[in-house]
Amino acid sequence: MTSLDRLKREIRQILAGSSVPEDPLHAENTVEWVKRIYPKADEGLLLAALAHDIERAIAEKKVKRSDFSNYDKFKEAHATNSARIVQEIMTLHGINNEFSNDVQQLVRLHEKGGNFRADILRDADALSFFEINLPFYFEREGYDNTLKRCLWGYKRISPKNRELLKMIEFRDKNISEIIKLIQRLPFRETSS
Ligand SMILES: [Fe+2]
Repeated sequence: MTSLDRLKREIRQILAGSSVPEDPLHAENTVEWVKRIYPKADEGLLLAALAHDIERAIAEKKVKRSDFSNYDKFKEAHATNSARIVQEIMTLHGINNEFSNDVQQLVRLHEKGGNFRADILRDADALSFFEINLPFYFEREGYDNTLKRCLWGYKRISPKNRELLKMIEFRDKNISEIIKLIQRLPFRETSS
């Protein structure tokens, strides 16, 4: 087993312990979306996809929504915290080089994007929210908050990849209503 395999095994073990039940599925599914969007994805990008939300799985380290004045600031702190934790784990596994710097930077950028590979990760994460997290989110948060979260998530996706949402089947009546609603809204195209 290589050190990269051991690292992935530890990340999966941490994710399996998350109090957020959809976390392990969402991590694996984000990896799948990265491959769908960009079949030539490298190991660093795939590892960043697997680990991008890791802080959420560690109760004593995770950032709390209630500590932030707005959702974007909360998400930025979440990404920075995950990046720091990923870097720590990689160091413990003896991976402390260009590769680990690249992975932690991708994790840090996963909410906003900012370069070719970080944009792929952001889009994959956003699409996976719709495919995996949405029913769980709806159950916890209800219709209005889910609509807001979906709008926020849809705007995150590059316009060219928003079409990919059509690949996802939404069985719940309320959720498919929300999806139809956001797809009908005109958006200013601010991201690439
Ligand atoms: Fe995520």
